[in-house]
Amino acid sequence: MRVKVKQKKSVAQDIDIVPQDCKESWVYTNIVKDHFFHPQNLVTDANKISGYSGLGMVGSPACGDMMKIWVWIDQKTDRLKKMKWQTFGCGSAIAATSMLSVMVTEKGGMKVDQALKIRPQDITQRLGTLPVRKIHCSVLGDKALRSAINNYFVRTKQKSRIIEESARMVDKFARVTDRDIEEAVLEGAKDLDAVQKKTKVGIGHPELIPEVEQLIRFYSEKYFG
Ligand code: FES
Repeated sequence: MRVKVKQKKSVAQDIDIVPQDCKESWVYTNIVKDHFFHPQNLVTDANKISGYSGLGMVGSPACGDMMKIWVWIDQKTDRLKKMKWQTFGCGSAIAATSMLSVMVTEKGGMKVDQALKIRPQDITQRLGTLPVRKIHCSVLGDKALRSAINNYFVRTKQKSRIIEESARMVDKFARVTDRDIEEAVLEGAKDLDAVQKKTKVGIGHPELIPEVEQLIRFYSEKYFG
């Protein structure tokens, strides 16, 4: 794809890359670029990893990418001492996860309960911003982190802290779950029409629409504020 690169006055130090056939502006901040070109805590050889407390892995149906996160947790203080990661995701996923690894390990390490509450907005805020259609890339990291912490709860037999996360069927005819709707919103679908184009949810079953609309509002609020 041909791109033109231009300097934007409002974000003087950022490069605004605009694909020629796209009306949207894709702004990457210097912080994003720095984390992309110099990723922190990236694993290049997973065979060398050992002694970790938990391992989490998620894949994004949106783009076929996966993210693996390893955590080292001090059980006495309940703080994250180290986080390492590996991904086949794009540049935004690399920058977002690199920033996530800094956020959870800086200042002596984040408390586990606090790390579980990190939202994609918290990561994008620290990065300055991310293009809207790239928000789902930052979700890969925070989901994999929760999965790694959950794995730590399982390994250390902290049964009361284990989080059960299973998808709920919203439309049994089209086989669409709440996770599918969440992914559609993360991919940029903002209303019922757009979500139906991606998932076929509720088509031919108008009785399901109020719940679908409620989920679209919920996930839009959750990820885009
Ligand atoms: S991780 Fe898939 S597009 Fe960014």
